[in-house]
Amino acid sequence: MNTAVGARDFGVYVHVPFCSVRCGYCDFNTYAPGEVEGATREGYVEAALREMDLARAAMPGDTRAARTVFFGGGTPTMLDSSALIALLDGIRGTWGLSADAEVTTEANPDSVTKESLHALARAGFTRVSLGMQSAVPHVLRTLDRTHNPANVARAVAAARDAGLKVSLDLIYGTPGESLSDWRASLEAVIALEPDHVSAYALVIEPGTRMGAQLRRGEVQPTDPDTQADMYELADTLLSEAGYSWYEVSNWAREPGDRCRHNMAYWRSQDWWGVGPGAHSYLGPHAHPDGEQVPARRWWNVKHPRAYAARLAEGGSPEAEGESLDPEDLRLEQVMLRLRLSEGIPAELIEGRAEAVSTLIADGLLDGAAALRGTLKLTRRGRLLADLAVRALAF
Ligand SMILES: C[S@@+](CC[C@H](N)C(=O)[O-])C[C@H]1O[C@@H](n2cnc3c(N)ncnc32)[C@H](O)[C@@H]1O
Ligand code: SF4
Repeated sequence: MNTAVGARDFGVYVHVPFCSVRCGYCDFNTYAPGEVEGATREGYVEAALREMDLARAAMPGDTRAARTVFFGGGTPTMLDSSALIALLDGIRGTWGLSADAEVTTEANPDSVTKESLHALARAGFTRVSLGMQSAVPHVLRTLDRTHNPANVARAVAAARDAGLKVSLDLIYGTPGESLSDWRASLEAVIALEPDHVSAYALVIEPGTRMGAQLRRGEVQPTDPDTQADMYELADTLLSEAGYSWYEVSNWAREPGDRCRHNMAYWRSQDWWGVGPGAHSYLGPHAHPDGEQVPARRWWNVKHPRAYAARLAEGGSPEAEGESLDPEDLRLEQVMLRLRLSEGIPAELIEGRAEAVSTLIADGLLDGAAALRGTLKLTRRGRLLADLAVRALAF
């Protein structure tokens, strides 16, 4: 066993780059049927399994089993459950899976059935994260979401019947969404009693269809004050319903309902990202020959066709990578962990006493926690998390 890595957990991310329709706001590496010429779902599964074979050889002496697995996308459930199960079996064969592993798949409410969810649960999946986004028809239309709101309740009931934990994803700040629309979505989520909720402020990237609509003046952006009110409403209603925030955009019923895979990213644990455009990270460790290997992050070629072609030729799908020195790692820790309710140890930002005092005086950091040596965001701080990170990290 490579002891230097033994202290960190290991997880596997699998990127599935297919969707039935591309939503106008979405900037993820995903392709609708008309956009993905030359790359099939069968070819993708074969290529992803080949990448796993290469991965094992790239981690000599490392015997860690995966403690978490996350199938994200795209829409992983565009693959048949048998294909998702084959990929999970590939992970078992390559790294092994801990007995208590968390295994999540993202899904669109329309892309799962009672049968598919039962099959996934029998094969070892433990959790499903459903893209609900909103419960309000005009908001769903603006987001190009194709699902019928009633399918969310069906999918949640089917997932629960299969014994899966359920997370629901919401987006707020959609053009034309009012505070009362947002309240209706939050109330609908709470009525469905998921174990976990993620609520993201809509980001409109320039290269997307919605970005073009914005440029042409066809949609109006939500003003930042309204978005802040929406965040506060989410936190109030979710807290009243028994959910606690544990990361700026994430709430869970119990500590055990937090997404362990995402927690591992935020705490700079190790992970291998399989699939087109997937990112991987391995922290500093000792090679079995004794050489010290610095922390490294790398990412795969983005297009599914290029990804499959590289692997078919027996090559690595890596596009580029970078080594991280201890200062890079410290900055990354501040940026990621400050967004967690557990906060960061004050030692991580030594020499920034003035910035800390200002952030406490402005109500962004919790003063009592700071006295005990931990920097934690207040609710106001969560609204301005990026500003707090900039003040502390750079
Ligand atoms: C990559 S999607 C995968 C899940 C699934 N394809 C779906 O959309 O239901 C994960 C989540 O990212 C969020 N998301 C995607 N694009 C976003 C954007 N531009 N702004 C904010 N959130 C976004 C959505 O809430 C979505 O559920
Ligand atoms: S379904 Fe999800 S991944 Fe696919 S385009 Fe829409 S938001 Fe993006």
